[in-house]
Amino acid sequence: MSSKEQVGPTGRPLPTFPKPVELKSHGPARVIAMCNQKGGVGKTTSTINLGAALAEYGRKVLLVDFDPQGALSVGLGIRAHELDTTVYNLLVSREDDIHDVIQPTATDNLDVLPANIDLSAAEVQLVGEVAREMVLARVLRPVLDEYDVILIDCQPSLGLLTVNALTAAHGVVIPLECEFFAMRGVALLVETIDKVTDRLNPRLEVDGILATMYDGRTLHSRDVIRSVVAHFDDKVLHTVISRTVKFPDASLAAEPITTYASTHGAAESYRQLARELVARGAVA
Ligand SMILES: Nc1ncnc2c1ncn2[C@@H]1O[C@H](COP(=O)(O)OP(=O)(O)OP(=O)(O)O)[C@@H](O)[C@H]1O
Ligand SMILES: [Mg+2]
Repeated sequence: MSSKEQVGPTGRPLPTFPKPVELKSHGPARVIAMCNQKGGVGKTTSTINLGAALAEYGRKVLLVDFDPQGALSVGLGIRAHELDTTVYNLLVSREDDIHDVIQPTATDNLDVLPANIDLSAAEVQLVGEVAREMVLARVLRPVLDEYDVILIDCQPSLGLLTVNALTAAHGVVIPLECEFFAMRGVALLVETIDKVTDRLNPRLEVDGILATMYDGRTLHSRDVIRSVVAHFDDKVLHTVISRTVKFPDASLAAEPITTYASTHGAAESYRQLARELVARGAVA
């Protein structure tokens, strides 16, 4: 068989990522922070849909909503504003058991630790704590052995909550929107990641940069990807997420794309991302 080498949207040869092998047992989880202080770049969408794709491959997945907007919780059908106990309570007191706060979703193997606007108070409340950067790591510890992967949906800021996410994490995935100012702010993000690695969490690594909202019909999108690859080289994931209205549609329906439009290319792209991260060893 002749296998002609395919060039992917990043301008590099596109490897094929094999279907992940079935896991015979679960845990301990690798924790990945989905992080970019720029707003609206696809952090929440990527957290939900990467999580759902990994769950389809039989991985036990916990999604942590770490944004007071609660978009991740709502995007999975959880009425977060009505909840009395959320990740916020676990951060500021030791009264609640994380198992009672985690909620299942309609997708097998996919659970959520929800958040709502209460979380906006945490940043201020934690400032005076001892080891204030390590609170989320402490909160997640009791469930590490129950999941294969924990994805943290960060808020668009580099404040104390995001530093907590980076301190709890083994890896960071940086979603980057394919538009002109995409790279703006990335240097500051990388600086923050380096500081956390230096001072708080030496195991932390950048698992990959994920190009999102790609429009292959425009030269512009292709130029952006090319400059990101020129800058970050093989940190840029081969998988690229296209711009399609299926994503906002799926979040309105409060479903992952993998069930909302299971056969659409958009769903397939997050399955490919899941396979790529497994192939890279970022996920079991
Ligand atoms: N690939 C895509 N194509 C089209 N629309 C998308 C895509 N990814 C995300 N969106 C839409 O863009 C908006 C922002 O996406 P999302 O909420 O995932 O970004 P975010 O980085 O989490 O934002 P924030 O910084 O506000 O938390 C949402 O309305 C979402 O439905
Ligand atoms: Mg978000």
